Amino acid sequence: MKAISKMCSAFISRFACRQGAAGRPLFGPAETGAIGKLADGLAHEIRNPLAIIIQGLECLKEGAGPADGSAKTIIKYIEDAAGRIDRITKGLVDFSHPGTPEMSPQDLNAAVREALSLMKPQLEQGHIEIREDFQGGLPQISADKNKLQQLLAILILNAIQSMTAGGILAIKTCFSGRRRIAVQIEDSGKGMPPEVLNRIFNPFFTTKRDKGCIGLGLCMARNIVAMHGGVLEIGNRPGTAGVRAAVIFRWP
Ligand SMILES: Nc1ncnc2c1ncn2[C@@H]1O[C@H](COP(=O)(O)OP(=O)(O)OP(=O)(O)O)[C@@H](O)[C@H]1O
Ligand SMILES: [Mg+2]
Repeated sequence: MKAISKMCSAFISRFACRQGAAGRPLFGPAETGAIGKLADGLAHEIRNPLAIIIQGLECLKEGAGPADGSAKTIIKYIEDAAGRIDRITKGLVDFSHPGTPEMSPQDLNAAVREALSLMKPQLEQGHIEIREDFQGGLPQISADKNKLQQLLAILILNAIQSMTAGGILAIKTCFSGRRRIAVQIEDSGKGMPPEVLNRIFNPFFTTKRDKGCIGLGLCMARNIVAMHGGVLEIGNRPGTAGVRAAVIFRWP
């Protein structure tokens, strides 16, 4: 796996050294450092599932057979590991190629309602009660409809996943200062200790690896908010359990 990381870094530094049309290097030291970190993170993330696949194939070659039922178990491990690599690479492509947003006027309340209805199965399965507090008469924001849905889904899913024994999801829209409106998502989960809170925007940082999470959700959320000229705030709810995520949009 070190070899993969080395290969990525070598490729990146070679690429970075190529001269751009204006005679400048394609990437400066800051970008090269960031991409190198991402390559290291990627190599680190695929190390485990890849090792499982290689070991599983070895076992199958050595004759683990259907007779003792072990082949089935090994194949399931291999499938899960391959699925994780697939999710990581797809997530990374999504993260690094967000595309150009197609802006149009969007009703924030309607977008939140749609996101909640799409997440209904997870909300029901997680025994989560929804408390809605939607401000009427909000102006429309300029947003990419799909990206707005993706953003809300990331934040709502994090909230759901934090309430492992059920809980309350409070979702609110409101005016938030001059020419700004906000959507606030609060959960009654366990919140985040400082060592987690400090790393939530690091690519591949996750405390939910056992649930198949890959740790790119909030990185993508931050990118989406940035492309809308908004602000994303995440922290523990003061004085009570759980996390509050707020996205503040400007309206034109
Ligand atoms: N509402 C929340 N309550 C508690 N912890 C949270 C919450 N939202 C985010 N976190 C923490 O931040 C980490 C990073 O979140 P992020 O959404 O980026 O990744 P993830 O949910 O682990 O994986 P995925 O890529 O599937 O979204 C989580 O693993 C979790 O530890
Ligand atoms: Mg997430």
